[in-house]
Amino acid sequence: MKTVGHNPALDGFPAILLRDLCECAECRDVSSGQRLGSVTDLPADVSVASTTVAGGAVEVVFGPDGHRAVFSREWLAEQRRPPDDDRAEQAKRLWAAADPGAVAGLRGHDWPRYLADPAIRQQCLAALLRDGFFLLRDVPCQPGTVLTVAGSMGYVRETNYGRLFDVRVEATPANLAFTGLPIAPHTDNPYRDPVPTVQLLHCLASAVEGGDSGLVDGFNAAALLRAADPAAFEILTRTPVTFAYADATAELHATRPMIAADPRGKIREVRFNNRSLQPLRLGREGSPDDTVAFYAAYRAFAETIIRPELMLTFRLAPGDCVVFDNTRMLHARTGFAAAGQRHLQGCYADLDGVASTLAVLRRGQATR
Ligand code: OGA
Ligand code: ZN
Ligand code: ZN
Repeated sequence: MKTVGHNPALDGFPAILLRDLCECAECRDVSSGQRLGSVTDLPADVSVASTTVAGGAVEVVFGPDGHRAVFSREWLAEQRRPPDDDRAEQAKRLWAAADPGAVAGLRGHDWPRYLADPAIRQQCLAALLRDGFFLLRDVPCQPGTVLTVAGSMGYVRETNYGRLFDVRVEATPANLAFTGLPIAPHTDNPYRDPVPTVQLLHCLASAVEGGDSGLVDGFNAAALLRAADPAAFEILTRTPVTFAYADATAELHATRPMIAADPRGKIREVRFNNRSLQPLRLGREGSPDDTVAFYAAYRAFAETIIRPELMLTFRLAPGDCVVFDNTRMLHARTGFAAAGQRHLQGCYADLDGVASTLAVLRRGQATR
């Protein structure tokens, strides 16, 4: 059957969009599927001259140049789904400490099973993207293994600290992490742009009193702040603040808001670190009153973050490796006595690589 004229499959599609959707060999490279032309090559006065339906396909002839496109109805229907930015809050499962999903995450997965079974790897990577973290057990306590873990899900992000870093007490620490002091909930390396989006911490030794770990869902904390004090939330999304770090061989700084929202106002990234936050500059735009309002908003966010019901607490034992979204999770540790051995190895990686690994794993499952 062939229908010419009005065609519901095309309802709502402007001519310019249909023209851009064309995947013919003139418009797209056959091998890669990549677009060959620029938007400036599309006729500015493009129109739909005629449409013909035959079975599951719709043929469109465009004016003014007579270009022809054939679309399947399925493909057209797919184009109606809203775009999804899976880094922002609507794609996540926000949690407080007592939520079953968060508690279940603490049970963790065995590293040998993770390696052997793609279904377990999928579960873990999906948890990282949805809940912001996952935990592995029985990761061999050999130095450097944290890099193998990172490589299993994406790519290591090398920094001035090296491919990996050691967290243990040092004689002349360049960072409070290398003391026995407690560390309040924070994101790592907010003084980088781009910030490392995944962090791994692998425990090699924990023979100390204290040194327990905490995780807070920063998106949940930001959402709670938005509900309780929308003005404070707004201030934190639109006030750029500077984070900085310097030692003998590095000098880093980045100026970004503490809560980054996407263009629709959805929470997309949290940077929070009292150690590296620089005091606000008075020379910036805004009045001294704005500075006072910023500090009040910052305090309100910090008070939300330390609410005990938001923090998942656990203790890393040798062989445990926690992996988390460093744009969302705030991590913390309690203080510990310098006597005894505590040694973690950490490294950074990125969420785009994790999402890619997961998508490819799912592809494998779909064809099995
Ligand atoms: C860090 C850190 C936590 C810990 O090194 O970034 O937060 O448990 N360490 O020592
Ligand atoms: Zn075409
Ligand atoms: Zn840290």
